Amino acid sequence: MQDRSVAEPLLALEDITVHYEGKNRPAVQHASIQIAPGEITGLVGESGSGKTTLGLVAAGMLRPTTGRVLFAGRPVDMQERAGMRQHRRNVQMVFQDPAGALNPRMTIGETLEEVLYVHRVALDMRDRAQRLARRDALLDAVGLSSHLISRYPHALSGGQRQRVGIARALAVNPRLLVADEPVSALDVSVQVQILNLFKKVNAELGQTCLFVAHDLAVVRYMCARAYVMEDGIIVEEGYCHKLFSNPGHPYTQQLIQAVPDVKKGLEQRKMSLFESD
Ligand SMILES: Nc1ncnc2c1ncn2[C@@H]1O[C@H](COP(=O)(O)OP(=O)(O)OP(=O)(O)O)[C@@H](O)[C@H]1O
Ligand SMILES: [Mg+2]
Repeated sequence: MQDRSVAEPLLALEDITVHYEGKNRPAVQHASIQIAPGEITGLVGESGSGKTTLGLVAAGMLRPTTGRVLFAGRPVDMQERAGMRQHRRNVQMVFQDPAGALNPRMTIGETLEEVLYVHRVALDMRDRAQRLARRDALLDAVGLSSHLISRYPHALSGGQRQRVGIARALAVNPRLLVADEPVSALDVSVQVQILNLFKKVNAELGQTCLFVAHDLAVVRYMCARAYVMEDGIIVEEGYCHKLFSNPGHPYTQQLIQAVPDVKKGLEQRKMSLFESD
């Protein structure tokens, strides 16, 4: 293991084990990760390795069987609903399937306005004019034209829907974004556009992010540091360039081999950046 600690992590998961009822082995075992403020930290592993389970713990949506969650240095009381609820205000999740994450009966405008109204963060969101201004600023930030506000989710492309999912997550000014395979359900042609949107949000807003993916090429493109997970266990961690050039664990080597031509794959995806979704 290398690069074990981050100076002052925004989020630290310490020795997390999650044992789902009825399963013989835990989905996550003694996992510790640290997320540095202002960075995109990767979590990569094959299907069933426990990435979503650990992401849900990070977001305060799943109580670990054992282990500690620290946010900005303070332990989150994961045994109490109130403690988890408070933590959830600091963290937002972006899911793999943007269609399932949006209410089909609400327009894009209504969806964003509702979040702004319910959370009433930052500006005085009781004032409708303020809400609408913030809604339009959010749409702009995620690269959506304001004429889409009256559309329903089904009338958007997958890429547009994921942009709405990101706008909705950003609406509450989260300190941490947990993105769980946010491009896996999208056409390859729009994947890079959405990856670049996450990068832009990170660079321009300083948004901290835990970025979950099964594709090591994507993690390398997105993150400076990453954790590699196999069968519920963090087997390796470190800077992505080192993970690639000098993988310490056979599983990481296996993941690298699973993406035979990483560079070529990404180049192809970058090309599609110039096509619109
Ligand atoms: N709600 C649940 N109840 C019982 N077992 C679960 C539940 N959710 C996940 N599991 C099991 O826990 C293990 C880890 O699942 P998890 O979804 O966290 O993995 P993952 O890395 O996100 O996989 P994928 O790449 O397919 O999304 C798997 O064996 C899965 O079957
Ligand atoms: Mg998953």
